[in-house]
Amino acid sequence: MSSVTTAHAPKGLEGIVATTSGICYIDGDQGVLAYRGIDIHELADHSTFEETCYLLWSGRLPTRNELKETRDRLAEERKLDPAIINLLRSVPRHVVPMDVLRTAVSALSFYDAEEKNNDHESNVHKAIRLTSQIAMIVAVYDRIRKGKPIVEPDRSLSHAANFLLMLNGTKPTPTAERALDIALILHADHELNASTFAARVTAATLSDMHSAIVSAIGCLKGPLHGGANEAVFHILESINSSGSDPVEYVKGMLAQKKKIPGFGHRVYHTEDPRATHLRKMSQDLGDSNGQGKWFEMSHAIEQFVKADKKLNANVDFYSASTYHILGIDVDLFTPVFAVSRVSGWTAHVIEQLDDNRLIRPRADYIGPAYPQPWTPLEKR
Ligand SMILES: CC(C)(COP(=O)(O)OP(=O)(O)OC[C@H]1O[C@@H](n2cnc3c(N)ncnc32)[C@H](O)[C@@H]1OP(=O)(O)O)[C@@H](O)C(=O)NCCC(=O)NCCS
Repeated sequence: MSSVTTAHAPKGLEGIVATTSGICYIDGDQGVLAYRGIDIHELADHSTFEETCYLLWSGRLPTRNELKETRDRLAEERKLDPAIINLLRSVPRHVVPMDVLRTAVSALSFYDAEEKNNDHESNVHKAIRLTSQIAMIVAVYDRIRKGKPIVEPDRSLSHAANFLLMLNGTKPTPTAERALDIALILHADHELNASTFAARVTAATLSDMHSAIVSAIGCLKGPLHGGANEAVFHILESINSSGSDPVEYVKGMLAQKKKIPGFGHRVYHTEDPRATHLRKMSQDLGDSNGQGKWFEMSHAIEQFVKADKKLNANVDFYSASTYHILGIDVDLFTPVFAVSRVSGWTAHVIEQLDDNRLIRPRADYIGPAYPQPWTPLEKR
């Protein structure tokens, strides 16, 4: 046991620093989130998802030419091998989009000429490709499962606008495009969250980018992580359809010792800075679309949970109502999280492989004391 450096493992690795990273800065006490040192509020107010991708992958903001090139390259990669479309068509109809995404991303590797190359350049190419393809898979599968024709990508559009076009069949309004663009910026990275950690662990074995992203997607879908936004909307829907009082509904959940999805955070002990933007988006979009009820319900729940449990809303709470008002189905909320977070996952895989060492921690053994006797079968 000489290589064990900590005596006891904090449950859930709380507070453990597991790597160095130059990508994402979080101050959980002050509610600060920054990508490459740039505050998330600046990025949400002034940037685009494409610019954020460049920032995450390259470590600095792009010049005008570099931004154009990033946009063009993401647009050029808006293509899926026909075999992927066939795979999406052959999926049993009961399968949820998040599981389809996980399997389809794994299959993307069969058609990626750079699958086995783990050098920096190839990984950047794969990051661009996966970012474009994941958005397409989510939109294309949704059209297929609804029996609607697949919408061809429009390479003149932004990533956000093209996604909404391929999903809904019509070009989004500038307001909808910008709302999704901001949501994509806000979800793009979050340091060593569970799915990013999973991606880095996989990459560190010198597996490959696709395998790392598949690990991350499997991790994101859990309701304690990215699956929380879907759980939030199920609650809002249930309150809406039953005519319940939102506060009484949530009180009932707490009385049954249930956690309220969209609240609490391992790292933030104050307002999640992403929630600040999503709250405003949910309110503004609701007001302009005559769907203010989702914000009102959410706000009532937030005020109660904050006062009663001292818990703040996290990124998933107001993204639920925001996505719903944008016309996105509830079981696409977590896939849409992946549409954004792939930018961060791939940035972390690139960083990991640029200076790799196998990630292999130790366990604090609490089993029967060593040595235990081996008892023959007939004597047990
Ligand atoms: C995010 C989350 C997983 C962080 O978990 P964590 O750091 O392990 O914190 P814990 O689950 O140990 O919670 C600490 C305490 O706060 C309570 N708590 C935390 N989140 C809560 C929530 N959403 N609703 C009710 N109580 C909550 C726990 O019950 C626990 O109380 P206890 O000490 O009396 O047992 C947790 O807050 C959660 O499950 N939130 C809901 C799911 C969610 O929104 N996930 C998305 C995160 S971005």
